[in-house]
Order: sequence, then structure tokens, then C-alpha cells
Amino acid sequence: MALVSVGVLWALIFMIYIVIQPIASCDPDILLPNGQVTESSSWFLGDSIKFECNRGFSLQGKSWHLGNGNMKKRYCAKAGCNDIEKRAIGTIFTATDGLKAEIECDEEFVLSGNSVTYCNGTKWIMKLGTCQLASSAVDHSCDFEREDMCGWRASKAIPQPWKRISAAADFRKDKCLQQDHTFQSDVEGHFIRLQSQVHASRTYHFISPIYPRNLTVGHSLWFQFQLFMFGPEVRNLTISVKPSSMAVEDMWNSFRDICTKLIVSGDQGSNWKSQSIAIDEMDSDFQVVFTVVDPSSLHGDIGIDDVKFIKSETTEPHF
Ligand SMILES: *[C@@H]1O[C@H](CO)[C@@H](O)[C@H](O)[C@H]1NC(C)=O
Ligand SMILES: *[C@@H]1O[C@H](CO)[C@@H](O)[C@H](O)[C@H]1NC(C)=O
Ligand SMILES: *[C@@H]1O[C@H](CO)[C@@H](O)[C@H](O)[C@H]1NC(C)=O
Repeated sequence: MALVSVGVLWALIFMIYIVIQPIASCDPDILLPNGQVTESSSWFLGDSIKFECNRGFSLQGKSWHLGNGNMKKRYCAKAGCNDIEKRAIGTIFTATDGLKAEIECDEEFVLSGNSVTYCNGTKWIMKLGTCQLASSAVDHSCDFEREDMCGWRASKAIPQPWKRISAAADFRKDKCLQQDHTFQSDVEGHFIRLQSQVHASRTYHFISPIYPRNLTVGHSLWFQFQLFMFGPEVRNLTISVKPSSMAVEDMWNSFRDICTKLIVSGDQGSNWKSQSIAIDEMDSDFQVVFTVVDPSSLHGDIGIDDVKFIKSETTEPHF
């Protein structure tokens, strides 16, 4: 009798083990130069990760991370870096202990790039960002380095699965996608990631700024973007173009068929790939919209970066 129940118990443990296995796992390493990372996990609390720096270095960030969600990256810092050169625009503050420097922009300016960097004893670990004029997105491209995302925004929702991610500051253990397309670095770059969340079971749009109609006149126009779409349950990403006067909900509920330009379905491999849609001559100013339905069980990644327009005299894309 006792033997049977031990067998049943082991079978149960094995089944739970199978169920909690991450489905699209790539388990990126958590790196901490000049320090150690100790990981353990329990069934209900998720991960428990301890960060410690080597003697002489001081930890930037909390020493523990608990749970499975987003995690701020930690750094081990030590004084000894040269002062960062002053910028024409923006103010750089270096901490008196020499471990950290930050940039702050004046009111009519927007930060592009990293807001903070740490010294590793000889070199600043990240490149500090720059301050740019708030209204300077002339060519309608966006690499999402700017804090204002060049006017791109997510439709209002709580929880909000569309997030701007910083390669230097953000980390998520179950995400293969940690680096942006522009820099492909661990300490530089920003991009947009759709984060699955248990309660995010509705429809979520990520909406461009309003582009002028005249952009589409007199030549063929292509809208190009970089897409990272990986994992067995990523399902459909819909890319639509709508007149700026049409509400995004109306587009989705009533005019989806005519506005949809492309549906990318399922796993596209674990790297960034270029995608583009043709934009016909428009009768009015317009917007581009990315839409995902019910990402609550999205075991995988959807990332967007480096959006831009390409004009072409021919009807074929010519990059
Ligand atoms: C600090 O960073 C520089 C440049 O990345 C590197 O060459 C150096 O080895 C680092 N020093 C330490 C102590 O990590
Ligand atoms: C297109 O229209 C915008 C305003 O709607 C204007 O600022 C811009 O100069 C126009 N561009 C061309 C090439 O006509
Ligand atoms: C995903 O898109 C395909 C067309 O590419 C469509 O046939 C399918 O119904 C869509 N799936 C869902 C869940 O909307």
C-alpha cells in the first residue's frame, strides 16, 4: 500500500514538473560582471535570485529578486572613471561617490538612450543618452530610443502588455528577447515588447503617430519594421493602416478587413526579421496599428523596433 502511494506521489511530482516547464524556454543567463548571481526557485514563489558584488564593488539595485516578472538589471560599480564630457544640451550629474552618472533634459527636450550609467572602476558601463528637441521626428522613422517613442502609443489598458524595454535596465528570465535590433547590445538600445500577463486577455493595439497624407502621394510607399516573433503560442500579429479620424476600436470592430495589411502568424524564428507593408495613396492623414488579441498565454516573444518609411518609384520594395 505504502509503495503504491509513493509511486503515485512521484507520478504527481513528475506531472507538476512537466507543467511548470517553460514552454518556449531559452533561459538567458543573468550576468553580473564583478559579482555573483545565485539562483534558486520554488514552485509558488517563482525565482529567487541573489546578487552580490566582489569586494571593492558596490551593488546598484536590490540584492534580491523574487518572482517571475520583469526584473531591473543590477550592476557592480566602483569609482575611478573620468568625468563624462559636458553636452551642449542637457545636464549630467555625477554622484559624489563616483559610481553613477545621470543625464537630465530640459523641458522642451526628450531623452534618447540611457538615462543612467555606472562606473566599473575604469570605464562607464553604458553610453549615456542625449537630449533631443521634442518635435524633431522629421522623417517619421523611430528606433524607440526616444522616451516619447516618437509619438507611438499603446491603446489604454490595465494591465498594459505593450512595453518599451531598455536593454541596459530591463531583464526578464523567460524572455529570449533581451536585445534591441538597432544596437544588439546588452547595455544599449530600446525596443517594444509585448509582455504576456495572466489577465491580459483583451485586444491590444500599438498605434503610430499621425502621418501626413502627402507622404503617400507621387510614389509607392512602404512601411518597414523589424519584428521578433518567437515561441509556439505567439499566434497572430495584425498590422493595419487606418485614416487618422477613425477610432482604433471602430477600425478593429467594423473595418478590420479593409484596414488589415498583413497578418504575421506564429513562430518566425528567434531573431529579428525585416517586414514591410505597402501603403496605397491615402485620402487623408493616416496611422499604422499593430494589434494582438489575448496575449494572456503567450509563451514567447513579440518585439518591434526600427520602424520607417521607404519611398520607391517602382511598385516593388527596393531597400
Ligand atoms: C570595465 O569596462 C571596460 C570596458 O568595457 C573593460 O575593458 C574593463 O575590463 C572593465 N573592468 C572591470 C573591472 O570590469
Ligand atoms: C506634407 O504635409 C505636411 C503637413 O501636413 C507639411 O508640413 C509638409 O511640408 C508636406 N510635405 C510635402 C512634401 O508636401
Ligand atoms: C490568424 O490569422 C490567420 C490568417 O493569417 C487566420 O486564418 C486565423 O483565423 C487567425 N487566428 C486567429 C486566432 O485570429
